[in-house]
Amino acid sequence: MPRGVRVLVVDDEAAEREGLATLLDSWGYDTSVAADGREALERIQTGNPRVVISDLRMPHLDGMELLKQVRQEHSAVAFIMLTGQGTIDEAVAATKLGAYTFLEKPLDPNRLRVELENCLKQQDSERRLEIAHRRLRDAGILGNLVGQSKRMQEVLSLIAQVAPSSASVLITGESGTGKELAARTIHELSPRASKPFVAVNCAAIPETLMESEILGHEKGAFTGAMERRAGCFELADGGTLLLDEIGEMPIATQAKLLRVLEDSKVRRLGSKTEISVDVRVLAATNKIPEEALAKGQLRSDLYYRLNVVQIFMPPLREHLEDLPDLIAALLEDLNRKHGRRVKWVEDEVLDMFRNYSWPGNVRELRNVLERAILVQPGDVLRRENIPKTFGLPPPSVDNGLTLRPGLTVAEAERRLILETLNFTRNNKTRAAEMLGISLKTLHNKLKEYESQPQN
Ligand SMILES: Nc1ncnc2c1ncn2[C@@H]1O[C@H](COP(=O)(O)OP(=O)(O)OP(=O)(O)O)[C@@H](O)[C@H]1O
Ligand SMILES: [Mg+2]
Repeated sequence: MPRGVRVLVVDDEAAEREGLATLLDSWGYDTSVAADGREALERIQTGNPRVVISDLRMPHLDGMELLKQVRQEHSAVAFIMLTGQGTIDEAVAATKLGAYTFLEKPLDPNRLRVELENCLKQQDSERRLEIAHRRLRDAGILGNLVGQSKRMQEVLSLIAQVAPSSASVLITGESGTGKELAARTIHELSPRASKPFVAVNCAAIPETLMESEILGHEKGAFTGAMERRAGCFELADGGTLLLDEIGEMPIATQAKLLRVLEDSKVRRLGSKTEISVDVRVLAATNKIPEEALAKGQLRSDLYYRLNVVQIFMPPLREHLEDLPDLIAALLEDLNRKHGRRVKWVEDEVLDMFRNYSWPGNVRELRNVLERAILVQPGDVLRRENIPKTFGLPPPSVDNGLTLRPGLTVAEAERRLILETLNFTRNNKTRAAEMLGISLKTLHNKLKEYESQPQN
């Protein structure tokens, strides 16, 4: 990794300075030297090093003064302080002033090597974050997450803010609102970005295999365990684990999961040895956590452990002003995927989109655009490119809506109303719109149905 990375060594003792420079060169760094703080400042100006490794006591300008000036004028340059024995107070003061760390002389080369690599990793991550913040400020975009609306900008800032730490984050929101994308973005903007991002979909794994998915297993641990297999914590070691659809995890497994989170250790099924893991855990759910808690689908102790920060991804119908930006970003991606060159949608399409409630959120928008660009070789999507079924519930959803002769008008109306509410996920405003009745009429009908329940 260090190949060509510029490091400046500052020390008034020629032998120490040259010795350290030779060592760093041998590791592949591009090293330059300075004999005191004043010379160091000149070298920083001309040589633009990424890291300064400086002695504390030096004539002219000492290490502490140098550190102060570097922090002020070259804040992107990292600083490692070398200290003699008995200068621990100054060393601590140095880290308070923003030095990455301090190392005691005589230097332990292994320690130096590791600290330097970690320092560069942190610097990389800070740079990525800085670039991401700028892009968020200038273009309103964070990673692949798009949204200029106030709602989305709040979400994106929160994501940028929590990304660098290792805090657990619970990401909530309806299906298709970008929860997984948010989790990936958190990972990519964290110092763990170069390590794995592992996503486990708790809804897709059979209950009997859930534990082994999390903890891993040894060969023969249970019938069907033909091979030793690492669990997702081991796979994500050093990186980030997304527990997707956490509300679907069996309650017994939740208890085991909690133990792993508390101890940072896993023991594979059928194994006696514990393995230490360093994993940042993110969890996502499209359930309302408080409801899942109340229904006993989510253990409260696990919930509190995961819910250090909660990020709620708003439904698309609540930030429709982001449609143009979302369409632009999704089209760009879909064009690349399908080798198309659709640049925009005509006004009529945009209007139609603005008047829709998007129960499937951004994923549904993406699907609609994807189907449309496949039939449009040109560069503008037109009304006629949008499938006729747009906005209609998928066939499987209208099972409650079988109309046959002999049904009373009142009963047909009742079924239509209830099914529409089902489709809009109980969004009454939207349902009333779709039904072409006022919200008040809808409420009245619902009251009527309540008072005369049907079997
Ligand atoms: N703000 C956004 N900007 C750009 N693309 C987005 C945004 N939100 C969602 N998407 C896209 O929408 C699709 C669905 O997102 P994602 O899979 O993250 O949703 P989800 O909330 O995890 O859904 P589910 O609950 O169904 O798993 C993806 O293709 C994603 O790239
Ligand atoms: Mg998801």
